[in-house]
Amino acid sequence: MKPYIICHMMSSLDGHALTDGWARPFMKDANTLYEKLAERFAFDAWICGRVTMQEISHGDTYPKGLARSPIPRTHYFADRDAAKYAVSIDPHGKVAWKSNQALDSHVVEVVTEAVSDDYLAYLQSIKVSYIFAGEREIDLQRVVDILAKELGAQRLIVEGGPHVSGAFVNAGLVDEVSVIILPLIDGRGEHPASFEVAPKAWTQPAYLTLTAADVQEGGAVWLRYKQAS
Ligand SMILES: NC(=O)c1ccc[n+]([C@@H]2O[C@H](COP(=O)([O-])OP(=O)(O)OC[C@H]3O[C@@H](n4cnc5c(N)ncnc54)[C@H](OP(=O)(O)O)[C@@H]3O)[C@@H](O)[C@H]2O)c1
Repeated sequence: MKPYIICHMMSSLDGHALTDGWARPFMKDANTLYEKLAERFAFDAWICGRVTMQEISHGDTYPKGLARSPIPRTHYFADRDAAKYAVSIDPHGKVAWKSNQALDSHVVEVVTEAVSDDYLAYLQSIKVSYIFAGEREIDLQRVVDILAKELGAQRLIVEGGPHVSGAFVNAGLVDEVSVIILPLIDGRGEHPASFEVAPKAWTQPAYLTLTAADVQEGGAVWLRYKQAS
């Protein structure tokens, strides 16, 4: 069965999601609120894009030369019983994990077959799981199918950044959209919106139906939507 998928983002009033330059005391409270509301969704795995995962991993590089021979392009699971999984959409294998844990979740790298053998050998050496979801580009539907079939995932939460959240929504995979509107206007129009879709992939807006709107502490507003039928 297809997992239930929630996309959870926080945004400025003018629709921006890059939080650099937002004051630290303000962002500490906003991040706490973001995590607290995310936990209400009781998910098995959280999914983020490569750029966001690089910020979470705090790693710059990984050791090269670990692969002694070509590594088969088959999934590798170092842990199938984790309480939660951190799923990294990383087509070319760039995220330099320091361990197989990210925010208390077991890391699963989603790569393409074009990834290097050295990267796969490195993931195996630190027991990070990996799955293949495309030859040269990631097929998000395939990602969801593999997580359901191989790890029994029933509820997934997509937590950005804007490009991965936009891609999941645009692919019609998201059942529910959750956005926390923070009380600030960012004003940097050149920064990505909270949901970004590649021009070549865009066909129409994603139409939504509002299901809840709640004022939260600090003047944030939590909006929840279902896909419009
Ligand atoms: N406000 C929020 O709620 C929130 C939440 C999370 C993150 N963020 C912020 O968002 C920023 C990063 O956002 P981002 O949008 O630049 O990056 P992102 O969504 O984290 O990652 C995008 C990358 O994912 C890979 N990818 C694979 N398949 C993709 C697909 N179908 N569509 C899109 N990307 C795909 C690509 O990696 P390659 O380039 O390697 O091919 C792409 O560059 C960070 O600064 C983070 O702090 C904000």
